[in-house]
Amino acid sequence: MSLVGTPQLAGDAAVAVSGLRVRIASREILKGVSAGFARGRVTAVIGPTGCGKTTLLRSLNRLNDQRPGMRVEGEILLEGQSVYHRGRDVRDLRRRIGMLFQRPNPFPQSIRENVALGARVHGLWRREEVDRRVEELLRRVGLWDAVHDRLGSSPFALSGGQQQLLCMARALAVDPQVLLLDEPTSALDPHSTARIEELIGSLRERITVVFVTHNLQQAARCADEVLFLLAGEVVEQASVADFFQRPADLRSRAYIEGKPV
Ligand SMILES: Nc1ncnc2c1ncn2[C@@H]1O[C@H](COP(=O)(O)OP(=O)(O)OP(=O)(O)O)[C@@H](O)[C@H]1O
Ligand SMILES: [Mg+2]
Repeated sequence: MSLVGTPQLAGDAAVAVSGLRVRIASREILKGVSAGFARGRVTAVIGPTGCGKTTLLRSLNRLNDQRPGMRVEGEILLEGQSVYHRGRDVRDLRRRIGMLFQRPNPFPQSIRENVALGARVHGLWRREEVDRRVEELLRRVGLWDAVHDRLGSSPFALSGGQQQLLCMARALAVDPQVLLLDEPTSALDPHSTARIEELIGSLRERITVVFVTHNLQQAARCADEVLFLLAGEVVEQASVADFFQRPADLRSRAYIEGKPV
């Protein structure tokens, strides 16, 4: 590891990761990762397949807890508080740190319920405002025109791109502080991809966004920061401009140029 987040970045971080090690059996998947995800910034996590990007994201909101045999060590702070603190309510943590996966995974309930369920479970909306909120969110993700006349129907009749936009509406419904997006557009057509990218841009004001992508152009277009991982270690965390124009590590330069790293 040659360079990790600058002290300035770590100080501003909504999420600060320090010395994160994730092991499964005797295999170390993350080998002491330190990084900061600043408030109101978008960070693209990049790196070759198998380098630990998904494992990093899943550690942040404790989804790795559910994986048998996986051990997580190190510190992850959300707004200065450990996410692994014994008294931490994991359901509340996952409301604060929402996640969108590579493959859309709507609930087997109606389109309306997909958007409204989380807010209901967390007691965020009054009964009389549910319809208005659902409409607002579906408009925000650009899905309202396509679904307004079938809100009571199953989401599985929607296209993959539409399902992903619905999952985005569902994630936003519970008003997260941090949104984790794991290759959110890799299964989408260019139109839905553009919609998700626009949403990422519009969220940056209020939400800390961390997204994994294999598409370096997308990282350059959508992100403020880049975190480059290689074989479970941070090679470099830098602003988009520094990373792409003045990478601090030779391995970053090789990766940007599509050479073996
Ligand atoms: N539950 C698990 N059991 C065993 N090995 C695992 C498990 N989860 C992840 N790994 C291993 O950890 C390494 C990192 O996996 P991870 O899914 O985090 O990579 P990634 O960077 O997201 O890759 P990709 O770009 O292909 O999505 C891989 O070698 C993977 O095989
Ligand atoms: Mg992955």
